[in-house]
Amino acid sequence: MICIILDGKKTAESLIKKIAGEVAAINEDITLALIMVGKNPASQVYVRNKIKACDEAGIRVKDYFLDEKIPQKELLKIIAECNADPKIHGILVQLPLPSHLNESEIINAIDPLKDVDGLTIVNQGKLMVGSDAIAPATPKGVITLLQKYFVEIAGKNAVVVGRSSLVGKPAALLLLQKNATVTIAHSKTANLREVTRRADILVVAVGKPRFITADMVKKDAVVVDVGINKVEGKIVGDVDFAGVKEVASYITPVPKGVGPMTIASLLENILLCYKKQISAREKV
Ligand SMILES: NC(=O)c1ccc[n+]([C@@H]2O[C@H](COP(=O)([O-])OP(=O)(O)OC[C@H]3O[C@@H](n4cnc5c(N)ncnc54)[C@H](OP(=O)(O)O)[C@@H]3O)[C@@H](O)[C@H]2O)c1
Repeated sequence: MICIILDGKKTAESLIKKIAGEVAAINEDITLALIMVGKNPASQVYVRNKIKACDEAGIRVKDYFLDEKIPQKELLKIIAECNADPKIHGILVQLPLPSHLNESEIINAIDPLKDVDGLTIVNQGKLMVGSDAIAPATPKGVITLLQKYFVEIAGKNAVVVGRSSLVGKPAALLLLQKNATVTIAHSKTANLREVTRRADILVVAVGKPRFITADMVKKDAVVVDVGINKVEGKIVGDVDFAGVKEVASYITPVPKGVGPMTIASLLENILLCYKKQISAREKV
């Protein structure tokens, strides 16, 4: 059987065009406050890509490039100002933060209606109970990509390797919402190979280059590789693409797979936050 490449780049491009159309039809500037502390080189690349995508979609970005040594209190004050500003519709704090800052306190200071990354406890809790959460962009992008390719999720055995709050756990919850039977594997999972070989849909978010090999994948499985690792100057995923594509029916490449979908889903979340704020204002 031929393995189909789940083209995240192409799918994201068409999604961004659609979002740009919706944004253009709104008679108001939609604005994202993008907060970055320090000069982590990987974060700088991610932030540049996010600003570029917002630009393409017609979303304004108010950037806050802050000194690495900014005190917690000052950062909390900036977030409080963004929360109170009706002209700011989304707030993104680029992670990771320098170690002197309390990341959880800072993320949870964001108004949940402006939480474009879906990382506040309120949005994570909403995702848990299945109500209208703002879901983190990466797992949301994974589901969108599967749906664009008409991959059936309901009734399938889905295995997510990785249990971070950013990717693994929300990916598992979103797959569960779509009626998959979900297993979450992690570093303490016994017989990982046996677990992954049961997956009809295998989502991998481990952060180890080419960690999942062909012998760990069931024949005709759908394999989604979230990993981004730099090996000898090249970006590779958590899945051994060359080997696994011989076994899988669908696979995401790295790059051009989940990465672009994350950006497109972030734009969707900014628009969603905007709409939620409008409807919250209409209720009062
Ligand atoms: N494409 C994108 O847009 C995007 C977005 C976000 C992240 N990423 C990438 O996705 C990867 C994962 O990110 P993350 O933030 O979820 O990472 P993370 O917070 O480091 O979590 C990694 C997870 O992998 C598990 N793990 C580690 N070693 C394992 C092993 N030997 N067997 C099974 N599970 C193992 C860990 O288990 P324990 O919990 O037991 O430690 C943990 O749950 C990274 O490469 C990151 O760069 C990509």
